[in-house]
Formats: sequence, structure tokens, C-alpha cells
Amino acid sequence: MKKVTVDFFKKAKIEGKKLSMLTAYDYSTAKLLDSAGVDALLVGDSLGMVMLGYDTTLQVTVDDIIHHTKAVTKGVKRSLVVADMPFLSYHVNIEDSIRNAGRLIQEGNAEAVKLEGGREIEDKIKAIINAQIPVMGHLGLTPQSINALGGFKVQGRNEHEAKKIIDDALRLEDAGVFAIVLECIPEELAKIITEKISIPTIGIGAGKECDGQILVTQDMLNMFGDFKPKFVKQYANIGDLIIDGVKNYIVEVQNKNFPEKIHTFKIDEKTLEKLY
Ligand code: KIV
Ligand code: NA
Repeated sequence: MKKVTVDFFKKAKIEGKKLSMLTAYDYSTAKLLDSAGVDALLVGDSLGMVMLGYDTTLQVTVDDIIHHTKAVTKGVKRSLVVADMPFLSYHVNIEDSIRNAGRLIQEGNAEAVKLEGGREIEDKIKAIINAQIPVMGHLGLTPQSINALGGFKVQGRNEHEAKKIIDDALRLEDAGVFAIVLECIPEELAKIITEKISIPTIGIGAGKECDGQILVTQDMLNMFGDFKPKFVKQYANIGDLIIDGVKNYIVEVQNKNFPEKIHTFKIDEKTLEKLY
């Protein structure tokens, strides 16, 4: 079993092999997803919403991402681990951006970082890549821009917006990113971008023409009930399994059916006598 590297991503596009990605935020889940064979795991800033209960991703800090990335990388043998750079960690200046990206690698053990945006952050992306840190781009709906975008909505539906996203994708490719996440854009636009660039596109709500797909694990396993975007397919219903299991547990505790003999420790008779 060979470790997935950024080279694997580039080769996959040439060979026409589709890439699968999921988010992971903790050791035990990362271990499961890795052993199932997913190509890459993203420690996404969606952890703010999914794991920490925030309304947006904007409150997530570099320390939060490091904390979760450490746990994920410990559980992984094969998957490439990409860590999200959170809001404000690459917006201030180049030096700050390199340092924060570096912390995700050095302290979190991530192998690559992901940044949201196109031309506005081109200089930061180039500087991080110059520091020998592989970068994944992210275009279309970029949740860290939620206040500027005016809500979670499909991007690139008019000519002006679509052309900007295409141009940004080309610029990111030139800057040297190894892949680009395309979030919530029409599938026709995702197809055009996928054909125009030589690095893989990873879609989420961007249709089947992308070179790979990513979903938030808790969404696709139905473990996160706050909302369900149109682009999510539920592959398992872990949420209901958890509720059923916990309900059984409560009943068995109340009925004194748990714990049973096999869950219980004993002391030898002689010692026991002395205790009364
Ligand atoms: O944070 C995240 O989960 C993401 C993916 C949805 C691409 O950025
Ligand atoms: Na993210």
C-alpha cells in the first residue's frame, strides 16, 4: 500500500482515474476512512460547524485546525492529508501566510494546505508553494466569504461570474497548485474548467465531470442533522444507528440488563470474605 502524495493526484488526471476525498476531524474516523481506501482526507474548516457547533467557518482558528489535524494524521496510513487554512490565516500578509501554512505542516503533520480564493490571494499561494508546501485551491462557493457573498448560493451562473472562476482556475494552475476544489457551481462550468486545466478538479456540488469528488463525512453518513445541502448524497445512516444504539443502552441500563457477566470483573472468594 503506497502512500498517496500530490504526484498521485497529478497522475490520476492523466490516467483518467477519479479521485475520492472526504473530510476527517478525528483519529478514529480518519482510521476508518483511510482503511476504506479514500485517496485524501481534508481537515476542513467545516469542522467549526460540524464538530464545534458554530454557525459559519469564520470562527475557526489555526490552532483548531492543528488540533484536529494532529489527530487525523495519526490515524492515516495511505490517504493524503490536506489541512484547511482558516479565515484570516492567509489574508493579512505573505509572511503570516507562510508561517500559518508551515504550522499546519510542522505541528499538524499535514502534507498540503487548502486556501479559498483566486486572484486576490495569488501572491500568498505562490509564497506558500515557494516554501515547499503543496497547495490545493478552492473556487466557486467559498464559505469563508459568506458575508461578502451574501449567503450560501450557487456561484458562476452568469457570464461575468463564470468567466472569473475560469480565469481564477487558470491562474491557480499557473501559480502551481496541485488540485482545485470547485464548490457549488453549475456542472457545465465545472466541465469547462476541468478540460482547461491540467491539474485535477475536486467537485462538491459541481457535477460528475470533475476529476474527483469531496463530501463532508458527517453529511454523507447522516451524522449532522442541522441542514442537508442539495449536493449531498447519504451513503449510510449513521445518525439513526447512533440513536438506536443509545436508546437500547438506556433501556438496558434502566432494566438492569447491562452490564452482563461478560462485562464484569470478579474478586476471589477468600478476599471477598475478608471484606464483609
Ligand atoms: O471545510 C470543508 O469541509 C471544505 C470542503 C467542503 C471542500 O472546504
Ligand atoms: Na473548508
